[in-house]
Amino acid sequence: MARELTEVGVVGLGTMGAGIAEVLARAGLSVTAVDVDEAAVARGREHLEHSTGRAVQRGKLDAAERDAILGRIRFGTSLEDLAQAELVIEAVPERLELKREIFSALDKICPPDTILATNTSSLSVTEISVATGRPGKVIGMHFFNPAPVMKLVEVVRTVVTEQPVVEDVEALAERLGKVDVTIGDKAGFIANALLFGYLNHAVSMYENRYASREDIDAAMRLGCGLPMGPLALMDLIGIDTAYEILETMYRQSRDRLHAPTPIIKQMMTAGLLGRKTGRGFYTYA
Ligand code: CAA
Repeated sequence: MARELTEVGVVGLGTMGAGIAEVLARAGLSVTAVDVDEAAVARGREHLEHSTGRAVQRGKLDAAERDAILGRIRFGTSLEDLAQAELVIEAVPERLELKREIFSALDKICPPDTILATNTSSLSVTEISVATGRPGKVIGMHFFNPAPVMKLVEVVRTVVTEQPVVEDVEALAERLGKVDVTIGDKAGFIANALLFGYLNHAVSMYENRYASREDIDAAMRLGCGLPMGPLALMDLIGIDTAYEILETMYRQSRDRLHAPTPIIKQMMTAGLLGRKTGRGFYTYA
């Protein structure tokens, strides 16, 4: 029978980490959310307050429920704050060395049966796992943006992930109200492996001025029934995150489909990161 996890840590309070902390707290779990410094923690807290505040405005939560959700999240600036966690979900930027350092530190801090999960979108979970002395307890738990809304969690198992760990994480995903799919440690897993070639192609079509951004997006929304066009979706994902995912998949597969279209790197360098900075392919108020 799956272990019922109740004490969960989140490392990294960017868009994904804050969203994951919200999902966990909404399901009644006790969450410790950690980022590098007070400023990063304050941004994460603001994100959570904004997201739950919006749910209150829309009548999806009442104020007491929102307070209870926020009350289940403790914030900290040290990985040591995660010493009691039964599961830690890491959601820091997509840099392998950074993730490996965090996993190595968590391995020393957390009890031996703590499950260490990464929300990586495209890096190898196996390479992250071998930075610890417990690769059998390391797994991918990949959420989608916005985490409180998107129903999918990809559970990524490596060749050494222990089966009970897979089952515990699948059971948790279900308790969170998500649908889980399980996949081996392949670049991009299922969804990103299929999605990012399409997004990259849409950016290339825009860069080559075949069509305006509005028309590219309208074609996919109205012609194919997608909730959002590809360029609006790039802005939601974040241009920096999208670049890192494409670059990693390209490095691994050498498939030109994933060679990042040049304008993506240029936008990243110029700080046009999408919604989070107020400007990407579109401008946001
Ligand atoms: N945080 C929390 N809730 C949010 C939210 C956010 N950032 N954005 C929207 N919502 C909620 C709204 O509150 C609303 O909830 P209720 O129905 O309960 O009131 C619901 O989502 C719908 O929102 P809206 O009516 O404002 O807008 P919409 O109907 O246009 O939906 C959307 C917005 C959910 C983002 C929708 O456009 C969508 O599904 N887009 C596609 C998103 C997608 O493809 N994500 C995957 C990206 S790839 C990825 O994440 C993987 C990776 O590794 C990078």
